[in-house]
Amino acid sequence: MKTINRRNFIKASAIAGAGLTLSPGFAFRCTSQNSSKPVLLGGRKPSYSFSKWPVYDQTEEQALLDVLHSNNWGRLNGNMTAKFEEEYAKAHGTAHSLAVSSGTSALYTMFGALDVGPGDEVVLPVYTFVASYNVVGLNYALPILVDTNIETFQIDTKKMEQAITPQTKLLMPVHIGGSPADLDAVLEIGKKHNLPIIEDACQAHLAEWKGQKVGSFGLGGAFSFQSSKNLNCAEGGAITSNDKDFIEKCYIFHNQGQGGTGTSYGTGSGTRGTNLRLTEFQAALLLAQMTRLEQQA
Ligand SMILES: Cc1ncc(COP(=O)(O)O)c(C=O)c1O
Repeated sequence: MKTINRRNFIKASAIAGAGLTLSPGFAFRCTSQNSSKPVLLGGRKPSYSFSKWPVYDQTEEQALLDVLHSNNWGRLNGNMTAKFEEEYAKAHGTAHSLAVSSGTSALYTMFGALDVGPGDEVVLPVYTFVASYNVVGLNYALPILVDTNIETFQIDTKKMEQAITPQTKLLMPVHIGGSPADLDAVLEIGKKHNLPIIEDACQAHLAEWKGQKVGSFGLGGAFSFQSSKNLNCAEGGAITSNDKDFIEKCYIFHNQGQGGTGTSYGTGSGTRGTNLRLTEFQAALLLAQMTRLEQQA
């Protein structure tokens, strides 16, 4: 077997990357033909051109104007957010979805619903976006970082179990770079230790594990709709879940500890919470963007 060291890894990934960037229709095109060597090792610096992003037309324009003229700009008055949640849950094969103000908010809301706090530990991969760690710190809990599987770049599930202690509150695999973590292994570990699984799927819209959408395996999945994402409303996020009780708790947390009016979630009991609601403008944009998601993904 070829030795894996930093130099071989950079070389191999640069060649694999060149294959990707040269494939037709890919959003990120490399115009250099000299891609066999990375710049670091003396290759010529390629020039890139990006596809226009975001993509929109009159559908988005009309959707925004409709919300504007409806006078219902927030979810507590309008119905766009609820409509989007229905569509988003359907796209992921989950029973429920809750729209929130960002991907970070989606994680934060689920941590709030699970009452994560000081003394708790959260097991997550070391290779992720900083938001995954931030949300642990925001709850005064301790991130327990697990190594990366060098073949997949995902969390190394062989090392996950060693990271579990009596303080572990939840497991948080991250589906990094649009690809799924090994969900068979993660689910098995979660079941064995009776720990909830929160999937950070902020980078993995419509990604699948064995034909099933990520975000539908654990107790909850978190998605981001920040500007660079496959689904974009400038800033926004969603939680997916099959657990009605959990999604109700999430709703209450993201709505200042209260159940909402005009929703199917009933009344709340004034517990831990904050305001992480999406606006109707964002929901309308997302509904329009959803019509292109499959093709763009
Ligand atoms: C893996 C991961 N988790 C969480 C987030 C946070 O999402 P947002 O920027 O919408 O708060 C991101 C955003 O890039 C992400 O990539």
